[in-house]
Amino acid sequence: MDEKITLAIESSCDETSAAILRGGRQVLSNIISTQIPIHQKFGGVVPEIASRKHIVNIMPVIDEALAKAGVELADIDQIAVTYGPGLVGALLVGVSAAKALAFTLDVPLIGVNHLEGHIFANFISHQDLKPPFMALVVSGGHTSLVHVKDYNSFSLMGQTRDDAAGEAFDKVARVMGLPYPGGPQIDKLAQEGNPNAIDFPKALQEKGNYEFSFSGLKSAVLNYLNSMKCKKIEIDKADVAASFQNTVIEVLIAKALSAVKEVGCNTLVLAGGVAANSSLESRLRAATEKAGIRFCYPDKILCTDNAAMIGCRGYYQSLASNFADLYLNAVPGLELQDL
Ligand code: KG4
Ligand code: ZN
Repeated sequence: MDEKITLAIESSCDETSAAILRGGRQVLSNIISTQIPIHQKFGGVVPEIASRKHIVNIMPVIDEALAKAGVELADIDQIAVTYGPGLVGALLVGVSAAKALAFTLDVPLIGVNHLEGHIFANFISHQDLKPPFMALVVSGGHTSLVHVKDYNSFSLMGQTRDDAAGEAFDKVARVMGLPYPGGPQIDKLAQEGNPNAIDFPKALQEKGNYEFSFSGLKSAVLNYLNSMKCKKIEIDKADVAASFQNTVIEVLIAKALSAVKEVGCNTLVLAGGVAANSSLESRLRAATEKAGIRFCYPDKILCTDNAAMIGCRGYYQSLASNFADLYLNAVPGLELQDL
């Protein structure tokens, strides 16, 4: 077994994180410094503040990751870093730190796509997991179905045409007066509501369509809230949250199961921040069980942004000699591409 030591860095949004991995799946440390309390008072991530906080946090977080793993800088064999997608200023902090360390330590640099990282979090949580499988990536910025054919071979089945699932959760929460990030708030509120109370629309329902669209649903929720307000009818916030969440979940489950069926694989993995949604996880579990499909999702700490998942992805890239040079730059709009 290859026992390469990887230092991984993640700074794409509002978490500064560094991790040390031995091989691809053994996490020696995974330090996450979140900025959520700072951005909460603005109702969302303020990019300039995020970049500044990453600059302050990056070296202490790397030092802590090394100390917790009991590893010296001299022991590092390679450095993996998120170079997109994300906020450009935030990404640049991680990319610059990674390049400086790779240059001074004279070790290979690996540029990692954040979304691929989310998928690879599953390899850490499920040590026996192997491709091929279907991945449903649901994060704040993306909603995609990816056929993972092998560790370094993917095919994009479909993605969102407009808002991502997490983005819709955050926007709906915001108009309901709930704090940022809205996903966990809606999740909590929905537990007390009736998921069938309000009939919200589902987009792109045709068979074989693996694209998503959540912007119409978001507008439908806003229209519902406004029209109730105009009519001076008191709304049950829990019912709105539960009905909205139910609509998102039904779309995600139907498309994911049909994608699994189309490619003929037998495993579905869930990835990204929205994977932390309790109802999505339990309903996907039930649906896959019924269909005889294996279902995997990462431990909660690996669902949200973290460097361990970036290290895992980076390790498998290194096996395919997929390294970056010191010209590596942040690519804020980096897409998930066929590989
Ligand atoms: O993957 P992530 O940490 O960041 C991106 O790469 O975008 O995802 C963050 C998203 C946010 O939109 C947040 O509201 C959502 O994940 N989220 C949730 C839950 N926890 C986080 N959405 C629904 N239910 C949750 N429990
Ligand atoms: Zn993410």
